[in-house]
Amino acid sequence: MKIEKVVVIGSGTMGQGIAQWFAQQNCQVQMVDQNYEFALKSLEKIKLSFSKLVDKGKFTESQTKVFGQNLSVKKLEDIDPLADLVIEAIIENLEVKKELFLTLDKLLSSSVIFASNTSSFSITQLAQAVSETRKNNFLGLHFFNPATIMKLVEVINGLETNPEISKKIIEWFNTRKKVACLCSDSPGFIVNRVARNFYGEALRAVETYSPEKFSEVDLVMKEVGGFKMGPFELMDLIGIDINLSVTESVYRSFYEEARFKPHRLQRDLVLAGRLGKKSGKGFYQYETK
Ligand code: NAI
Repeated sequence: MKIEKVVVIGSGTMGQGIAQWFAQQNCQVQMVDQNYEFALKSLEKIKLSFSKLVDKGKFTESQTKVFGQNLSVKKLEDIDPLADLVIEAIIENLEVKKELFLTLDKLLSSSVIFASNTSSFSITQLAQAVSETRKNNFLGLHFFNPATIMKLVEVINGLETNPEISKKIIEWFNTRKKVACLCSDSPGFIVNRVARNFYGEALRAVETYSPEKFSEVDLVMKEVGGFKMGPFELMDLIGIDINLSVTESVYRSFYEEARFKPHRLQRDLVLAGRLGKKSGKGFYQYETK
């Protein structure tokens, strides 16, 4: 499979990491965000991360120079219509995602593979936004945060996805130190389905806002449970807004099964603009740069 030109839509937490990872695979990457200035800032952050990687001895300066040259910021209407792959990594909102795919379907050649980094929406449902022929070229590619470091990529076929495409993509990733696995198109796929209770039960265990209790739970899960991060630290890293949207979507998709019920504390934090690390405050407080 040839993946040389990649368009990444959305330059937030995930889009930035995905764009960086593909640039490090020597792909030409075009970054797009509805907020053009924000995409430019994300590109600057990636370049800063390259210099840190050089300091740590992970790459040489000449390698990161090439990676930097592989990246560019574009307006949606200026993206390459002959790209090999477009990855959508915008907010977790079904209608907004479908509207974007409808636009992309008109802008890009029929050969372009469409992928969504959605954490929870059905790929079959998202693919309804595109033309009949494109549906064969439409799949889920679910990366994990941070996308440059986390090896797992969940690969999801919708009902109309050509399985040959996902098979070849899995092979492509697996020769580039990712661990790509085929998952069913069911709400939350594997990781986000299983993880709902990691977050949900932790929230139900503390009930109200209490940093002392958050750190108690995080400590126990790390020290005794063997997890790398506790549930509150992880929600702050993911983004509490994104995590809440995923929980709401999984809950709705399972026809409101109680075990997936979202928690009001999470909703209240989002309403207060406490979105986690990215906003400087979430369950915990962070120093903003
Ligand atoms: P984010 O909130 O950090 O970034 C979203 C970006 O999308 C923002 O920069 C926003 O301006 C842009 N955007 C929104 N609507 C747009 C549109 N119509 N066109 C172009 N740009 C648009 O969100 P994050 O965390 O990067 O999540 C993106 C996707 O990745 C979501 O579907 C989420 O469920 C999924 N995901 C998130 C993970 C996480 O740990 N945050 C992990 C794996 C998947």
